Amino acid sequence: MYKPLKITEDIFYVGVNDRTKHLFENLWPLPHGVSYNSYIIADEKTALIDTVDICYSDIFFHKITSLLGDKPIDYLVVNHMEPDHSGSIEWLVSKYPGIQIVGNKRTIEMLKGFYGITNNVVLVQDMEELSLGKNTLQFYMTPMVHWPETMMTYVSEKKTLFSADAFGTFGTLDGGVLDTQLFPERYWDEMIRYYSNVIGKFGSPVQTALKKLAEIRINVLCSTHGPVWTKEENIAEVIGLYDKLSRYQADDGLVIAYGSMYGHTEQLAEIIASEAAENGLKRIVMHNVTKSHQSDIIRDVFKYKGLIIGSPTYNSKLYPGVESLVFALQNRYLKNRFFGYFGGFTWADASAKQLAAFAGESEFEIVSEPVILKQAMLEDVRDKAFSLGRAMSRKLLSGAEVVPNSSANCH
Ligand SMILES: Cc1cc2nc3c(=O)[nH]c(=O)nc-3n(C[C@H](O)[C@H](O)[C@H](O)COP(=O)(O)O)c2cc1C
Ligand SMILES: [Fe+2]
Ligand SMILES: [Fe+2]
Repeated sequence: MYKPLKITEDIFYVGVNDRTKHLFENLWPLPHGVSYNSYIIADEKTALIDTVDICYSDIFFHKITSLLGDKPIDYLVVNHMEPDHSGSIEWLVSKYPGIQIVGNKRTIEMLKGFYGITNNVVLVQDMEELSLGKNTLQFYMTPMVHWPETMMTYVSEKKTLFSADAFGTFGTLDGGVLDTQLFPERYWDEMIRYYSNVIGKFGSPVQTALKKLAEIRINVLCSTHGPVWTKEENIAEVIGLYDKLSRYQADDGLVIAYGSMYGHTEQLAEIIASEAAENGLKRIVMHNVTKSHQSDIIRDVFKYKGLIIGSPTYNSKLYPGVESLVFALQNRYLKNRFFGYFGGFTWADASAKQLAAFAGESEFEIVSEPVILKQAMLEDVRDKAFSLGRAMSRKLLSGAEVVPNSSANCH
């Protein structure tokens, strides 16, 4: 029998840990697992906030009954319909046939589409309130953080926000659930990887949501993934991190991501990196795109303001791993970066041209001319590689703001 985990007066944690799944969304590695958080507000009326992945519905049910016994649940609030949170809804309805499911117009559409549920559904509007007795739920519509139906639920009496995926992170809750029970440092890097990979495309909707939430006081921050944040400095850190990442702001550091088949492009990457270091830059992360997992590259690209990408020409295109990275960054509307690029070819250059097109379409500041290597005559291009490393280092260390320009005149 589980011991109910109290978060604050009337509010309990009934989420689960997933240490089995290798890939979140069948894409993003989970070296430290992930939690699916769910919460119960036990008042005159009982409300459950979100459910968990279907694979964990059994443990979920044990947690619920350890708290409620035979008592029914009056409401299920569905903040988000992605199956890592909605997966147990159909099963929950079979256990609690009288439960009323609370959601917005889009949620209701999806409840029908995913689970065939049309009965006992309560439609709520933006900012509408629902009283449970001593506690009142207020619903904040936050579309596209991370799906169109996403909303958040605020309990003003407890200054507690149930924020769905927003402010979430990868990483299980090992023992403790509250930030006061664990070391938060473990989660910061995983929070950036979670944000940049899963939510990264939705910077603008995240900003809209943050503006909407700015007026409310948050003493307890309950996301659907990761710790429950209760300490003022941790809540500030988490909200600050989401704010910074969604504005595409980053630290002064450099990511060099490159592909290479026979080492020529890699040699350029090494030269550029060592020249950047020679000019004082310490935070340099190099990623060989076919060795590093793309989710780690995306995390570092969101973390650092300098980005240099290199690729050999491969069948008149970018090297596949580089092409996939470029696509991932375009998909996330990456902006506000100092940018440089380098390419290699043997008979007809295509990689540098395609990187120039990527740069031209992005809001980047190109810091130096591209470096283009034909076959292996490195001496010819070494000076340009030095210039790129030096220019990037100087830009980053100068503290200057990015001034977007076009690559058209550089290549
Ligand atoms: C499978 C394959 C396809 C290639 N396709 C092209 C091409 O379309 N155009 C070109 O100029 N060079 C092409 N190359 C040559 C490489 O782009 C060139 O040798 C490059 O410098 C290799 O860099 P690396 O040593 O970093 O792998 C190709 C090489 C390979 C192995
Ligand atoms: Fe989601
Ligand atoms: Fe989620």
